[in-house]
Amino acid sequence: MSFPNLRLRRLRKTGKIRELLEEVRLSPKDLICPIFVEEDLKSKVQGESMPGMERLPLKDVVDEVNSIVELKIPAIMVFGMPSRKDDRGSSAFAQDGIVQKAISEIRKNLGNEIAIMADVCLCQYTTAGHCGLVKGHKIDNDSSLETLAKVAVSQAQSGTDVVSPSAMMDGQVKMIRTALDDAGFSDVAIMSHSAKHRSSLYSPFKDMAHSAPKFGDRKTYQLPYTNPKEAMREVETDIAEGVDIVMIKPALAYLDLIAMTREKFNIPISAYSVSGEYALVKAAAMQGWVDEKEVTLEILTAIKRAGADMIVTYFSKSASKVLNEK
Ligand code: PBG
Ligand code: ZN
Repeated sequence: MSFPNLRLRRLRKTGKIRELLEEVRLSPKDLICPIFVEEDLKSKVQGESMPGMERLPLKDVVDEVNSIVELKIPAIMVFGMPSRKDDRGSSAFAQDGIVQKAISEIRKNLGNEIAIMADVCLCQYTTAGHCGLVKGHKIDNDSSLETLAKVAVSQAQSGTDVVSPSAMMDGQVKMIRTALDDAGFSDVAIMSHSAKHRSSLYSPFKDMAHSAPKFGDRKTYQLPYTNPKEAMREVETDIAEGVDIVMIKPALAYLDLIAMTREKFNIPISAYSVSGEYALVKAAAMQGWVDEKEVTLEILTAIKRAGADMIVTYFSKSASKVLNEK
């Protein structure tokens, strides 16, 4: 018997055959679009280090979210920039805070046309610019938990579907779950930044969101990128605490951790393709060195292929435009 004539190129012969054989299909439905809302802003401001991204005044938020709905993107992630910061981060949980107002405006005008996710953290809201409250020279875990829970409940009261704690405080999922349940919000889900690494790829965001720490760095709470086992322990503890969706962050340089999470756990996985990932592509594309559309689709598809069920990305709108035209 002769050896079969194995030719894998048969299935790459025409565009239609290749379409049929596609194993991973990226869709606008995989994407979560971040928006930045700044208190007391008169008109939109372009992000210096994130070309194409804007800080929005409250009055422009509904129009912006409407354009996201029209692109068939199912979810947004709301980040707020308050006009006043203090030691307690009190504008993060004020019922008339900027994020709370934005959430209720979106809900009032757009109903359930979009899933609303809100960032739960303190770094934009505290004078120290850390994700937790500062005691002496330390970031105090347990007093931070109480504040984070208040932030989550205030966002639930405003009508968010999902709260997304990004502070990397130990026990944040359990504390927030308990507080939400006690306040009657057992139907509000938690998407935790479970494995959030200390990364140099966050710099453009810190400019954009005015959230850079005033002293020190975030190494005592964010994960070191050298430690995959520790990252899996973070995912494991969030699951034990009742998280609904786990997140790996950043995405592109952390595809192994997305794949590892997929293999080890049965839970929805989000990946956060961060500001630095966006900026790298944008900068090269603006020089004409890479094709922005092609590179974007390649990167987002790779993140999905690694095992992410959904992707938070600043390319949500531009990628969806391309995908909807395909
Ligand atoms: C802070 C926060 C950061 C990002 C999201 N939330 C910055 C940081 O932790 O230093 C980064 C997101 C991005 O770079 O796109 N809670
Ligand atoms: Zn933070």
